[in-house]
Parts: sequence; structure tokens; C-alpha cells
Amino acid sequence: MPPKQQKQIPATAHIVDLDSSDDEDSAAGVSRSRDILVGKTSHSAKLRTKPPTTTQSASAVNSGDVVAASYGPLDSRSFWRAGAYEIGPTTSTIVQGDLEHARVHPKFLHSNATSHKWAFGAIAELLDNAVDEMCNGATFVKVDRIYNSKDNSPALLVQDDGGGMDPECMRKCMSLGYSSKKSNTTIGQYGNGFKTSTMRLGADVIVFSRATQAGRATQSVGLLSYTFLRRTRQDDVVVPMIDFDISDHWAEPIVYSSKEDWSSNLQTILEWSPFSSKDDLMLQFDDIGSHGTKIIIFNLWMNDEGVYELNFDDDDEDIRLKDEVNQGNASRTFKRALELQSHLSYRIRYSLRAYSSILYLRKFMNFRIILRGKPVEQFSIVDDLKYSKVVTYSPHVGPAPKEVTVETTIGFIKEAPALGVCGFNVYHKNRLIRPYWKVTADGSSRGHGVVGVLEANFIEPAHDKQDFERSNLFIKLEGRLKQMVTDYWKGHCHLIGHQPDGMRKNDVQKKFTTLPQVEEVSGNTGRTIIHNKSATVQPILGLEAGSHPETPQDTTSLDQICEENIQLFMRCEEYKEKQVALRQKIEELENELEETRKKSARLSSHLEIQRKQMLLTRQ
Ligand SMILES: Nc1ncnc2c1ncn2[C@@H]1O[C@H](COP(=O)(O)OP(=O)(O)OP(=O)(O)O)[C@@H](O)[C@H]1O
Ligand SMILES: [Mg+2]
Repeated sequence: MPPKQQKQIPATAHIVDLDSSDDEDSAAGVSRSRDILVGKTSHSAKLRTKPPTTTQSASAVNSGDVVAASYGPLDSRSFWRAGAYEIGPTTSTIVQGDLEHARVHPKFLHSNATSHKWAFGAIAELLDNAVDEMCNGATFVKVDRIYNSKDNSPALLVQDDGGGMDPECMRKCMSLGYSSKKSNTTIGQYGNGFKTSTMRLGADVIVFSRATQAGRATQSVGLLSYTFLRRTRQDDVVVPMIDFDISDHWAEPIVYSSKEDWSSNLQTILEWSPFSSKDDLMLQFDDIGSHGTKIIIFNLWMNDEGVYELNFDDDDEDIRLKDEVNQGNASRTFKRALELQSHLSYRIRYSLRAYSSILYLRKFMNFRIILRGKPVEQFSIVDDLKYSKVVTYSPHVGPAPKEVTVETTIGFIKEAPALGVCGFNVYHKNRLIRPYWKVTADGSSRGHGVVGVLEANFIEPAHDKQDFERSNLFIKLEGRLKQMVTDYWKGHCHLIGHQPDGMRKNDVQKKFTTLPQVEEVSGNTGRTIIHNKSATVQPILGLEAGSHPETPQDTTSLDQICEENIQLFMRCEEYKEKQVALRQKIEELENELEETRKKSARLSSHLEIQRKQMLLTRQ
């Protein structure tokens, strides 16, 4: 760790303002964060460059006891613990005029990021931002590991060649609840993804962006640093940024208030980022081209064992989540469990390459996700289904019924019946929100191997884009999907060797031995598509019970029991994870309770003193 040194606070840093009302008319469901923290305010919409508050700079620079700042990570490197710190004395006091601006405490940056329980959910937000830039010319997004040159620690790089951000857009990108996206087709809508995702992955992020707006070419650097904010005990989210005009082929600093302020911002960036000189910073633009954005997240979070959450070492072409890989010994004893764990539905939990391969429903024409130097091959689950069919569903959306039709492709995974993977992959505006959503009851073998894919644009994703809001439409959709599985199972389970519920073997024999084999047809017709090559199971069901020492019926039951066992095991694992999360919550709540108790004790002693003073004055 570099030697400790005293910290300089920027005389002028840009204050991220929450109450930007210029996006008031944007999509419903605008930032939850803004609503909670700021509420309605009549204050004007502008994001400002806050003039230096003398209290802030003076106290920070002069009082070494208050500011214990130096470059280097926070003491707590685990994301889930990093939000628990006491708000002690701050480096600033509210001066007159400050009240007009709703403050956002840096703690909020952390708590806002907890909406991402899963680190890949956070990476997906950054991929989404690059994908949304396709309309501005983006052709790739690169995700890679780089090293922080100050301490050699790993950092995450996410870079695209989209339209980039001009100085104003960059400020808004760092603000909470601002989204420039008004189109119906973009994935981004809440104006929160960048902040929640970067802060979920690491303590600090530096952004480099180049853009051309109204004929003016600019490049900007911004630093959102939880480490800086905490170490210097800021009580507001201060984001140092510097901009350059590069229209004339050299980088001319854009000065807003004074040169000193500009230099002070640069100083803060150099002190709290992996880059030690202005030249180092400028070098970062070399591979950006004329437009694009480079995001570097550093001081990546670790898990409770002090191991980086993002694992770059187990696979040179992937980023993995160690904690998501099932390491229980029990599973190893089951061959099926191992097979299940190598299936895509399981791999997406710990392999970014697997997850990003199905993250977008439609294959890109002119865009690639390049993970650690190798393009991600997009995978279409629909192409891999057997006996697939398309089912249409028309939900009633809104009071004035709009005609919305949702097509769901449903079928068996190619490994069925060997693997009991099942569920619906539900997309929203081309982006996977809920992978392998199991709508059937646990423990039942009905629906095993049945997988569906649909794009549900009529329901709203939750803020972490990993689930949907629990609206009536969502509940109805769930019911409809349940029905879909039941119907599909009834009509097709014999094709993979199962017996429809309530049907006797002889009936099955009569019904299915004469079933014609159909050539593969287009999936859009709504007809069942039967692949000749895999339709080999009918004769099994035709056998009379007892005609063979080990009847196929027996084999099926054994398989079912085995798969149910695996499902139960997986559920057990899920519950264990939930238990850990709940324990953490309890710990947090207990801390909060303790805090409140202390506060209440302080207040009562204060009251007591006042009461005594009043008595004394009366006497
Ligand atoms: N890679 C990028 N290239 C260009 N602009 C970007 C990029 N990333 C973010 N931005 C800008 O920053 C804004 C805020 O991004 P953020 O991800 O926080 O919100 P969003 O994408 O608008 O909505 P959501 O919260 O649903 O993701 C975007 O609206 C966009 O203007
Ligand atoms: Mg976004």
C-alpha cells in the first residue's frame, strides 16, 4: 500500500444533483432512488458545478484528525460489509444556500448498489449501456481484466465504441435517476444502472469518454470513488471531472469557473485513481478512437474470505463467480448433478461467457461482446429445443385494451428426458430478465425438460433487471405459463418417454404408436415441430408391464426420483444462500437497532439536562 499522505480536497468538484426535473416526463417508473431520497422538489432541474464551499476545502486540508486520506482501498473490501460505517464528523458543514440542494450521502451510493444481489447482474447493466449505443454506431463492447498500476490489483475494464458522452452527458451519467434514453427500444430506462452496477462491482470507477456534439469534439474524465468519498468523509457525492475540447486536434482544457478548480479536480482524480499523471490519463484515450467510452472499475469487491468476487484466473477467456459454483460434495456423488451443473441453465450462474451468450434474445447483426479478447457466441435456446411449438398469448394491457400478442416458443431441451432442466427465459426489450423461471411446483416431475422463451414487453422489469415487478399482469402471465407447461406436457411428454398423468399404458399405446413423424417446419406456424432424428421413444411405452425384467416404466421412475433428488438438492442450496443473506440482514438490523438505542439514550440525557436547566432557571 502506498505511504499515507495528507489528502487535498478539490476546491471545486462537481456535485451530483439528484433533482433533475428535465427528465420529469420520461418513462414511468423513473428512479426509485430519486423518489425516496429527494421526493418532489420545486428546485430547478440543472445539474450544477458547485462553487467551492470554503468550509469544505479548509477543514479538509487543515485538520489532519478529521481527514485520514491516502490512496489505497477501504478497510472493508467486502461489498456486503462496506456500507456499515458510522457517519462521523464530516469535512463540510451546511452553509447558507446549501439547503436548496438535496444532498446524497455517499452511503446511499452503496445502499443503492445493494439492489444487485448478483455481480453478473451488475455487469449486464454495463453491457446494456453499450448495446443501447448501437443506435450511435457502437459495434463492440470489450470486457476484460486490467491491472491498477498503483498497486497491481485487478480492475474491470468495459469499453465500447458507441457515441460516447459529452461533458454534460457525462455529468448526468454520474447523477442518479437521469436517463437520456427516451426511446421505446432501449434497455436502459431508470437512469440508475451505471451507478448501481459500478458501485456493486468495486469501490471506485473512472470513466473516459469521447464524443462529438453539435460539431464540438470533447473528451472527459470522471471519477466516482466511494473510497475517496469515505476517506475524506464527504457528506455529499462529490464527483471530480475534467473535460477537454479536442476539436482542434489538441486537448484544450475546458475551464468552467477557474483554472485552479480545473487543476484541483485533476489532482483529485490523480490522487484517487490508478493514474498518477495527466499524461497517464491522456494515454487512456489512445484506443478510444473518435467516439466511445471506457469504464475502469477498481478496488474490486471481495467475498467474506477475502477473495475477489470476480475470478479471472480459472479461465483466461471468461470471468467467473467462485461463490456461485456449487462446491458441495453431495452433488459430486450424482452423475446427474454433474450433468446438470454443466448445462447452460446452471453455467450462467457462474460463467460470464455463458450468461452473456443468452443475455440478448436476438442475435446482433453488427455488434459483438468481446470477453477477455474472445467474442461471445450468442446462443439461441429456441434453436436447441426439440418438439418445439409456438404458443400465442394476448394479455389485456391497460384499461383501453391494446392489442398485444406475445409468442412463446416451448419445447424440450435436447437433453430431455435425461436432464430435468425446465422453466421460461423471459426477456424484456431483447434483454434476459428472468432465466429459467420455473413456474411448476417443485418436486413434481411434470414439465421436466420443458423450456420456453418469450419476450414480455408488457410488464416492467425491477430496478436490478433480474426480475419483474409483481403487477397483476405479471401474476396473470405466471398463471398462463403454468397452463402452457401443463398443456404442452399432456400433449408431448410421451415423446420423451413419459406417461401423461391419468392415462393407462394401453391408452398410451393406442394413442401414440400410430403417431406420424413430421418433418421439421418453421417455428412460427404454431404447429408442433417433431424432429425425426430424436423421435425414438414411442415403442417403450407400448410394452406391457412385467414383459421385461426391468421395464422402461421402472427406469423412468428411477430417473424421476433421481432428478427430483437433484432438484431438492438445488433447492436446499438456494435456501442455504437465502439463509446467509437473511443472517446478514439480521446483523445489519441489529446494528441499526443498537445505533437507534444509542441515539435514544443520548436524546434522553439531553432532555434530562434541559429539564434540569429549566428547573434551575425557574428557581
Ligand atoms: N457506455 C455509454 N455510452 C454512452 N452513454 C452512456 C454510456 N453509459 C451510460 N451512458 C449515459 O449515461 C446515462 C445513465 O446511464 P445509466 O445506466 O445509469 O442509466 P440508463 O441506461 O439511462 O437507465 P437504466 O438505469 O435503466 O440502466 C445514460 O442514459 C446515457 O446517457
Ligand atoms: Mg443503463
